[in-house]
Amino acid sequence: MTERFSFQLLARDGLARRGEIFTPRGTIRTPAFMPVGTVATVKALYPEQVRDAGADILLGNTYHLMLRPGAERMARLGGLHKFMRWEKPILTDSGGFQVMSLSKIRKINEEGALFQSHLDGSRHMLTPERAIEIQCLLGSDIQMQLDECIELPSERREVERAMELSLRWAERSRRAFEAQQASGAAGQGQAMFGIVQGGTDAELRRRSAEALVAMDLEGYAVGGLAVGEGHDLMLATLDATLPSLPETKPRYLMGVGTPLDLIEAVRRGIDMFDCVLPTRNGRHGLAFTWNGPVNLRNAVHAEDTSPLDEASTCPAARDYSRAYLHHLIRSGEYLGAMLLSWVNTAFYQELMASMRAAIEEGRFDAWAEETKARIARK
Ligand code: GUN
Repeated sequence: MTERFSFQLLARDGLARRGEIFTPRGTIRTPAFMPVGTVATVKALYPEQVRDAGADILLGNTYHLMLRPGAERMARLGGLHKFMRWEKPILTDSGGFQVMSLSKIRKINEEGALFQSHLDGSRHMLTPERAIEIQCLLGSDIQMQLDECIELPSERREVERAMELSLRWAERSRRAFEAQQASGAAGQGQAMFGIVQGGTDAELRRRSAEALVAMDLEGYAVGGLAVGEGHDLMLATLDATLPSLPETKPRYLMGVGTPLDLIEAVRRGIDMFDCVLPTRNGRHGLAFTWNGPVNLRNAVHAEDTSPLDEASTCPAARDYSRAYLHHLIRSGEYLGAMLLSWVNTAFYQELMASMRAAIEEGRFDAWAEETKARIARK
């Protein structure tokens, strides 16, 4: 049992990496996909289903949890793991991204982000120090620095300003995190990751990465992508960024993505992902299968007695007819959202397991070509 946070590379295939992150709450097999549990629930799923699907770690959100139920209340209740009955590691995002995408009025200045809650209009100030304090109150195992993520395309000057502000916030986040550790409010098994910003500009990305690496953090995220730049530009940005990050630390691509995005990012050396796509699409009737995406709303399924995906390990994909899933989704029934969220969460975990095996066996490129052809099928 390791009490310190650490990362070990087990195998490499080209730039793709197979590794393990050790935390006191358990080992995370990488490349890893983190299901999104924004408000202390992976929507429409029991924690047991998420665990049994193969997830080693979940993502939670500072922004949502600070507003409801509140960070201090969560601490009084024993922390996020106990609250939601998830014993394995949790990574929490810092709130910067959600302030920009969800809150009504926001003002970003040197001090932090001033915003109005999307729930009740109440005003809040999120500083780098408060974002870390909240994440400690939640008890998250991997904490993220506060950053500013801007929309793309934006003027280079604006991208540079946000990137530099994010670096200053990284320094402040780090000092706050170390103070929390010194006071015992955070342990040596907890980690803080920095977030590389800089839009799609290779030079800004390199500067951001190098400055964060000089802070010697436990891991590095690539933020500010999947915000409108498109698949190819996202990959080009990874190509420009990842060589500046150390081999010895985990690399996390935030808020990404489709199965194709995950395959191409792993090929370039990404170790961790999170995205709402599997659960959100599931709630809307879109299933990921080993034969490509299936839209269960479509009338072609109305009398189809076959299961959704015989190649899946998920009971929801094997034991229910397409006709029934179609009916549930068309009727707006909760069970439809539950079954398809389960199918998709399991598919994403199977995809990661399959990538891990392919890297171990040194056949990632061949695997990727086969898999891309297979899951793009109609
Ligand atoms: N989630 C997706 N992208 C980002 C980002 O750039 N920053 C943060 N904090 N979270 C994200």
